[in-house]
Amino acid sequence: MTKSRYTVTAALPYANGPLHLGHIAGVYLPADIFVRFLRMNGHDVAFICGSDEHGAAITLRAKKEGITPQEIVDKYNKIIGDSFKKFDISFDIFHRTSSELHHQTAQDFFLKLNQNNKFVEETTEQYFDEEFQQFLADRYITGECPKCQNPNAYGDQCEKCGTDLSPTELINPKSTLSGKTPVLKSTSHWFLPMDRHESWLRPWIKEGILDGKQQHDPKAWRNQVIGQSLSWIDSGLHSRAMTRDLDWGVKVPLEGADGKVLYVWLDAPIGYISATKQWAIDNKKDWKDYWTGDTKLVHFIGKDNIVFHAIIFPILLKDHGDLILPDNVPAYEFLNLEGDKFSTSRNWAVWLHEYLERYPDKMDELKYTLTAIAPESKDSEFTWKEFQTRVNSELADILGNFVNRALVLTQKYYEGKVPDLGELTEADQQVLADLEQFPSKIEKLIYAYKLRDAQTEVMNLARLGNKYLAENEPWKLVKVNPKRVETIMYIALQITANLSLLLEPFLPSTAKKLRTFLNLDLPTWSETGKANILKTGDLVKTPEILFPKIEDSLVEAEIEFLKVSQQNPVVEEKPLAPQKPNVSFDDFTKLDIRLGTILEAEKVPKADKLLKLKVDTGIDIRTIVSGIAEHYAPEDIVGKTVSVLLNLEPRKIRGVESQGMILMAENEKGELSFMNPEKSFGAGGEIS
Ligand code: 2FM
Ligand code: ZN
Repeated sequence: MTKSRYTVTAALPYANGPLHLGHIAGVYLPADIFVRFLRMNGHDVAFICGSDEHGAAITLRAKKEGITPQEIVDKYNKIIGDSFKKFDISFDIFHRTSSELHHQTAQDFFLKLNQNNKFVEETTEQYFDEEFQQFLADRYITGECPKCQNPNAYGDQCEKCGTDLSPTELINPKSTLSGKTPVLKSTSHWFLPMDRHESWLRPWIKEGILDGKQQHDPKAWRNQVIGQSLSWIDSGLHSRAMTRDLDWGVKVPLEGADGKVLYVWLDAPIGYISATKQWAIDNKKDWKDYWTGDTKLVHFIGKDNIVFHAIIFPILLKDHGDLILPDNVPAYEFLNLEGDKFSTSRNWAVWLHEYLERYPDKMDELKYTLTAIAPESKDSEFTWKEFQTRVNSELADILGNFVNRALVLTQKYYEGKVPDLGELTEADQQVLADLEQFPSKIEKLIYAYKLRDAQTEVMNLARLGNKYLAENEPWKLVKVNPKRVETIMYIALQITANLSLLLEPFLPSTAKKLRTFLNLDLPTWSETGKANILKTGDLVKTPEILFPKIEDSLVEAEIEFLKVSQQNPVVEEKPLAPQKPNVSFDDFTKLDIRLGTILEAEKVPKADKLLKLKVDTGIDIRTIVSGIAEHYAPEDIVGKTVSVLLNLEPRKIRGVESQGMILMAENEKGELSFMNPEKSFGAGGEIS
């Protein structure tokens, strides 16, 4: 088998939240299986990932959490990176797009294309928030969807009906920064004229259409990838802006481009290149070897990333001139959870880092289940019940049971020594012939990105082993025909040894355990299929139970946990308001804020939210109406010292004149708190 060089990328996750099982099943685990298999075959592989740290997703999240974008990306880069490590996803590098090397690489890439006239500079009108003095990225504008009237559509997409939109199509657009109607203002940007590329793109995508006999060809692209890409091309390739007016991102490296950054979908895939560069520096390699020549570039992604990897990034790579285009773009559909979509805002998710905390010794159980249900060609669903069934009826009853029998009987009959291979029956010969076929069946499936079927095939070998033992019943024969039992056990042990190799890409820690039982070294694929991996006389150990059964109580507890977490979303429902524009010190000093003591409190009739308060301000006693009735009972607040804005224009609320305002803090859950002094201060203290 000829050795090839591969660059395998897994979509860079946004550093704006933790990973859930949907992400793992549909990108990272399949990529890891593929790469582990390639490595076992001696291919030269760079397995690349990192966090995607720019774009509106990050800045919006930062605003929500009330911290800076840098703090957000630092926090989630760590959470995500740590859970990948714990889950043993074997990236060669997990990099960051906020790194200096990435900024430099992305800027050089942009400059090269710009110098070669691959962009067109155009001035267009874009929405601008006058209060914040800022152009608005698509995600910063919401409004009514012209198609389905959803009032909360984004400037780039309506998430209700799925329509791609541009901000100017929204009815009643509003800035998410100030809540005000934005105005159109002209701004210039660098556009990628994608229409120039149609003539090569269409036939290139079509090369991925292989059917019939060729369905196992590694070059066969998934229907969904071809379908989405061709329909994008058919609906007309337009120019797309490759820069944005934002302050978070990779700066446009040109004079006169202040306040402009690279579009995140230009910058992020270049992240694959910068990560390769960093890895090459760390390992004394040449990054170019992995992006030029015969190297096969493979992008593992979710289906929402298809056009970026099958159209836009290939155009950019082609424009760059000397870099390879992807060999395949295995895209995954979505995984659902217990009958519903994964949802961060509703906290309907199984978070990887939480799973690993709760079940640190059940990693392969999760890997196995996620691969068995992977959404390869259509959406699929994770349920805890299915997890239990997969573990108990497949991993424990088939794989665990077979391995256990083979090794325990070897201990019992031969004190752990591999016995002799005697004369073969026809049935033995058939089993050995079948065994020989497994590696090529499995490898064909893996090269064709059919990892679900490939894993099933590995389990079929364990099934074959079980059947072989059940049919030959060595435990009965041992008394009457011990010589025959030696042959049976020899064959069962060779099947076990094969499993320890063939399982390596899928269940690496189980495979390793198995090899420890068998005293085998590092696995290579070329040894598989053979019936002499173990030699007569080799010592094998007594196994431990590989897969303890999953109790019903775990399933029940997990479902309950999901329901409870959904009622208490950790992710706040109501974002904290972003910082308001600056005010001058003079303006600030116009506010007269003092400590006041609440003397009396009563409900305002027919107004659920309002309390009428009598407040001692130190200079007078006045009436203030405050919207705190849902948070405080009148009898609980009499005597409290609070902060009061005294010189707010008096106004009538429900017929009562309010002569000031009680200042309150509100957290992301919408709870209110008085602003009390930390020392015991009386009424009248000025706040400045
Ligand atoms: O959809 C996402 O999560 C993106 N952050 C994926 C980027 S993939 C690549 F281009 F970097
Ligand atoms: Zn819509």
